[in-house]
Amino acid sequence: MTDPAYDLVIRGGTVATASDVMEADVAIRGEEVVAIGRDLGPGRREIDAGGKLVLPGGVDPHCHVEQLSANGLLNADTFESATTAAAFGGTTTIISFAAQHVGMRLKTVVADYHALAERGAVVDYAFHMILADPTEETLTIDLPELVGTGHATVKIFMTYDRLRVDDEKLLDVLWAARQNRAFVCVHAENHGMISWMGKRLLEKGFTAPRYHAMSHPRASEAEAFDRLAAAARMLDQPVMVFHVSTKEGAAAIRRARGEGIKVFAETCPQYLFMTASDLDKPGLEGAKWMCSPPQREASDQEAIWRALELGDLQVVSSDHAPYRLDATGKFSSGANPTFKGIANGMPGVELRLPLLFDAMVSKGRLGLRKFVELTATNPARIYNLPGKGSIAVGGDADIAIWDPDREVLIEDGFTHDLSGYTPYAGRSVRGWPETVIGRGRILVEDGALRAEPGSGRFLARDAGEAARPLGTPSPEIALLLG
Ligand code: URP
Ligand code: ZN
Ligand code: ZN
Repeated sequence: MTDPAYDLVIRGGTVATASDVMEADVAIRGEEVVAIGRDLGPGRREIDAGGKLVLPGGVDPHCHVEQLSANGLLNADTFESATTAAAFGGTTTIISFAAQHVGMRLKTVVADYHALAERGAVVDYAFHMILADPTEETLTIDLPELVGTGHATVKIFMTYDRLRVDDEKLLDVLWAARQNRAFVCVHAENHGMISWMGKRLLEKGFTAPRYHAMSHPRASEAEAFDRLAAAARMLDQPVMVFHVSTKEGAAAIRRARGEGIKVFAETCPQYLFMTASDLDKPGLEGAKWMCSPPQREASDQEAIWRALELGDLQVVSSDHAPYRLDATGKFSSGANPTFKGIANGMPGVELRLPLLFDAMVSKGRLGLRKFVELTATNPARIYNLPGKGSIAVGGDADIAIWDPDREVLIEDGFTHDLSGYTPYAGRSVRGWPETVIGRGRILVEDGALRAEPGSGRFLARDAGEAARPLGTPSPEIALLLG
C-alpha cells in the first residue's frame, strides 16, 4: 500500500477565509496547508468536518501574559495557562508584551519574557515591547538591535503614572520607530483628565468600582487620539490605536484616516458586549469588570460596530489582562480599596472568538468573512505575521474546526486562564471551536489539551507594510530627514 499523500486531511467542511466561503477538504503536510479542494487524497489521519466550519486559527494581538504591572503586580497567568486558554478558544497565535519599567534595560526585559514563553507557550507568539523608559540607550542601542532580531512593534502609554510618556517622549518614540522600521501601538487616553477626575471623585467619597468608569471621562479618549494622530502626521509615522471604547474615539479615528493619516485601530469584546453598568454591583464585585479604558454605553457599542463594518477599526483583540480576585491580584492594595487601588484588566483570550462568533456568525452581525477578517486575517496582516491568519496553500496549518450549532453556557471555572473567574459568566453563546490545530499539531481535541508546554514558537518578524511611512512628512521633518 502506498503512503497516504498527506499527514492530516480535514474532510468535507465549510472552509472560510476573509474573502471566500467554500465546501472543501484541507490537506496538511508537516506544519503547512498543502492543498485545498474537493476529494483530496487520503491522509495519515482524517477529521470528518461535515456540518462544521473550518476557520483560520485566531490571531490575538493584545494579550498581557505573565506580565509585571507598573505597580509591581504579576498578572495571574503563565504563558502555559494563557496560551492553553487561547487554544481552547480557537486562537493559535498571540502577541503578548515584554514590559519595560523605568530603570530597566530593554534587551534584558525582552530576554526575560522570551525565557518565560519558551518554557510555557502552547501556541505561537510574538512580542510588543512596552517602552516605559525610552532613554537614549533604549531608543538608539536596544531598539535597533531588537528590531533586527524580530521584535518589530512597541507599545507606549499616554496615561498611567509610572508608564506614561509625555508628548515629547511620544515624538522620540515615533521618531526612533521611523528610523528603525518599527511599528508603534498606543494606549491613548488623556492622563490629566483621568487624574483630575479620579482625585475629585475620591474627595467626594465616590470610591466604589463603578466610579472607575466615570474617572475616565469620555473626552479623554478622543483628545488623546487626536493628539496622537497629529504626532503621527507630523512625523509621517503610522500608529496603531489600542482598545477604542467610545463613539467619539471611533469618530477621531475616522477623521484621522479621512485626513490621510496612517492610523490603524482595534477594539475589544468588552467594548462591544459590556457597558459601564456592568461595574455597578454591590460592594467590590464590580472589580471583576474593571479595565482601562472602561466600558461605556450601548450607543458606543453601536458606533464601534459601525466603525468595524466601515473598516475604520480593523482588529478585535482581547486585551487579556487577568488578575485574581484576591490579595495577589485585584485587591493587592488591601481588602477595602478605592477604585484607584484595584488592578485594571480582565481575562478574555479564550472567549474573544466564541463571543464574536456568536454575535457575528450565529446572530448574523457582519457575517462569517468579517469575523475571520477582524479576528485573524487583519491582525496577521497588520502585525506582519506571514503564514498566519488565513487558510491558504503554503500557509501555516493553524485551523479551528467550529461546531456552529453547539450552545455553550459560560460559567466561572469554565475557562482555562488562572484568574479564577470570567466576566462573561451567565452568558450563552452558539458556536464553539471543537478541534484546534496549530502548525499541523492538534492543540485541542475532545475537550482536552494535546500540546506540550513550550511547543509554541516565537514569530520573529519585521514591521511590514503597516509600519511603512507614506512618504509625506511635514516640511520641517523633511528637513530633519535630510
Ligand atoms: O485594563 C487593562 N486593559 N489593563 C491592561 C493594561 C492596558 O492598559 O492595556
Ligand atoms: Zn492599554
Ligand atoms: Zn492592554
